Amino acid sequence: MLCVSLCRPKKLFFLYFSCQPLHSPLPFPTMKFIAASAAILALCGNVSAFTPAASATGSSTAMRSAVASETYTFTKSNEIFEEAKTLMPGGVSSPVRAFKSVGGNPVVFDRVKGAYAWDVDGNKYIDYVGTWGPAILGHADDDVLDAVKKTMDKGTSFGAPCLLENLLAKEVIAAVPSVEMVRFTNSGTEACMGMIRLCRAYTGREKVIKFEGCYHGHADSFLVQAGSGVATLGLPDSPGVPASATKATLCAEYNNLDAVKAIFDENKDEIAAVILEPVVGNSGFIKPDKEFLQGIRDLCTENGAVLVFDEVMTGFRVAYGGAQQYFGITPDLTTMGKVIGGGLPVGAYGGKKEIMEMVAPAGPMYQAGTLSGNPLAMTAGIETMKKLQQPGVYEELERKSKKLVDGIVETAKKHGLPITGDYAGGMFGWYFVDGPVKNFAQATKADGAKFGKWHRMMLERGVYLAPSMYEAGFMSMAHTDEDIDRTIAIADEVMSQL
Ligand SMILES: Cc1ncc(COP(=O)(O)O)c(C=O)c1O
Repeated sequence: MLCVSLCRPKKLFFLYFSCQPLHSPLPFPTMKFIAASAAILALCGNVSAFTPAASATGSSTAMRSAVASETYTFTKSNEIFEEAKTLMPGGVSSPVRAFKSVGGNPVVFDRVKGAYAWDVDGNKYIDYVGTWGPAILGHADDDVLDAVKKTMDKGTSFGAPCLLENLLAKEVIAAVPSVEMVRFTNSGTEACMGMIRLCRAYTGREKVIKFEGCYHGHADSFLVQAGSGVATLGLPDSPGVPASATKATLCAEYNNLDAVKAIFDENKDEIAAVILEPVVGNSGFIKPDKEFLQGIRDLCTENGAVLVFDEVMTGFRVAYGGAQQYFGITPDLTTMGKVIGGGLPVGAYGGKKEIMEMVAPAGPMYQAGTLSGNPLAMTAGIETMKKLQQPGVYEELERKSKKLVDGIVETAKKHGLPITGDYAGGMFGWYFVDGPVKNFAQATKADGAKFGKWHRMMLERGVYLAPSMYEAGFMSMAHTDEDIDRTIAIADEVMSQL
């Protein structure tokens, strides 16, 4: 038996935890056997898998750790986070990371690789957040890191034209149907800020239509019934945004074409643009009806408005050419971010040449950036794109997303929990509510308290999910079927107690 365990350590662990009732005290000899096995396996270098570090809380933790249903401890994370709260607002550099809507402290990461993250207490997680989307190859991909290291030797920022910008621009233009010309920025927010100014400059109109629960970064004019952290914290609008900044932002319900038509009718020749997430990932995961996307495309064309797909999240994630390729509907402008930076800070907006040539210095619409197009970020993007072009990548991502969502939904049903879930390419989500969920109002009906409990219990057992029911999940090329099976098995245990 020991021999088998040496050869197939993960299997042994999996078999063992799946036989153990949750929280049942283990007979001492069994604990000793597991501890001994864990020690031997650790020598083989393969068993840090899902085991809290013995050093963190003593050897009893190391023994308990062999059972996946026994939970992690977070001593160092808690210490670091307590200090962080005295140094940075809420202890974080971006709000949702603080775990406010799910309760409890966040875990403090130490390192990431492939499908996994390790925290400062030595706990290992299967990570479905993937640094909020960029890590589509898996974290810290060796080829991306090697290329970035080589580029770094030549300097980190030029503030001058560099060939790498051309290379990434060519990849983006070749991949994304709507993009004939592109401007790089440092974040999705910056890309969206440039994009909205461009829509207004191009049309000479001010009003824009956005959708409830969609998030387009934190620029003033988008902080109207926004998704992501704004929805997570229950702050549909933010203090500090002048009324004048949002008075030209009109909001419609997602997947409701009549609502969009009505706004166009009431604002004849005044709408500059319709901006949407072509698959919503910032109110949880919501797929559009294809007729809704087509209807908006037609309305924009008829009314001389610019159609913008904000593909900061969906770009290179639901398909290589983004949601516009997935659904076969081409907008006029597209914003991008996350995946195109391969884990470094990049955003971009692009579209028809005729519109993009309004951007300075080709045209009069001003937008700039000290670090925009820097060689490190461009390199990470180029290497990521290369790997995403391998045949079968998106089929495989979608297969794994489906496997996970189907497994979670079936498991919830088995335990009598209301649930609905969906996926597209490497992006997915589920809500604890009877579906379907087609818009933000329906998403808010999901059980937030249950989500909070679920989130914490999954975390304590080694599955890192987004700490908000208003965020999508992300699959990477590095996730294995074994990771997904393990996630579903852990979910089975957790759901039996929800
Ligand atoms: C659709 C969408 N647009 C814009 C943004 C803002 O991007 P960033 O966080 O890089 O500023 C996000 C971030 O999650 C997003 O999902």
